[in-house]
Amino acid sequence: MRSPVKIAPSILSADFARLGEEVRAIDEAGADWVHVDVMDGHFVPNLTIGPAVVRALRPHSAKPFDVHLMIAPVDPFLEAFAEAGADVITVHPEAGPHLHRTIQRIGSLGKRAGVSLNPATPMAALDYVLEEVDLVLVMSVNPGFGGQGFIDGQLRKVEAVAERVSRIGKPIEVEVDGGVDPATARRATDAGATVLVAGTAAFRGGPDAYRANIAALRGGAELRS
Ligand code: DX5
Ligand code: ZN
Repeated sequence: MRSPVKIAPSILSADFARLGEEVRAIDEAGADWVHVDVMDGHFVPNLTIGPAVVRALRPHSAKPFDVHLMIAPVDPFLEAFAEAGADVITVHPEAGPHLHRTIQRIGSLGKRAGVSLNPATPMAALDYVLEEVDLVLVMSVNPGFGGQGFIDGQLRKVEAVAERVSRIGKPIEVEVDGGVDPATARRATDAGATVLVAGTAAFRGGPDAYRANIAALRGGAELRS
């Protein structure tokens, strides 16, 4: 029997003027992880938040902070995000010259390491590093913005990654990020996803809707089990 899927709301879709309250509200509404999208206006065409905001949000939830770094170079910022309170730190292979070293560094900071694959990045980018990571994030949109449509073709990559992970015998999470709603949530978990990121679908309707939003994502995702 598979373990229940984890829901990781992306605070990119929260009200930035009330971020602390938003994190508390989404935690109380049943989020498993809090997904933090960090963008640098260079690796991706948008700018968001840095370690100071992660640090400020840390007291608002005891749930794992799942920090998705869309920044290059990424290495100079790993320590700052670790100290700010990240639990999972996910990087893109294109964000530095030595992915293996970056993963080792995240581990040596006492954090779980993730590798994120853009839609055009092949699964082969995980060759020789998969055994070292705790999470693989398959992007189902091009990174940079919330509210984009789910790219169906990425489900094949989710399936291939999940199959490869299952052969390793280490509990590596398979996370899907971008365009996740109750319908695509179901398809992603059918393909083998264990963690679902949702921005728009988690935060739409404001705090009164968060519990139902998360339940709908979970329900969509767990009908099969
Ligand atoms: C995109 C981010 C995603 C995004 C998800 O670059 O990594 O986490 O915010 O937002 P939705 O669920 O709205 O696609
Ligand atoms: Zn993300």
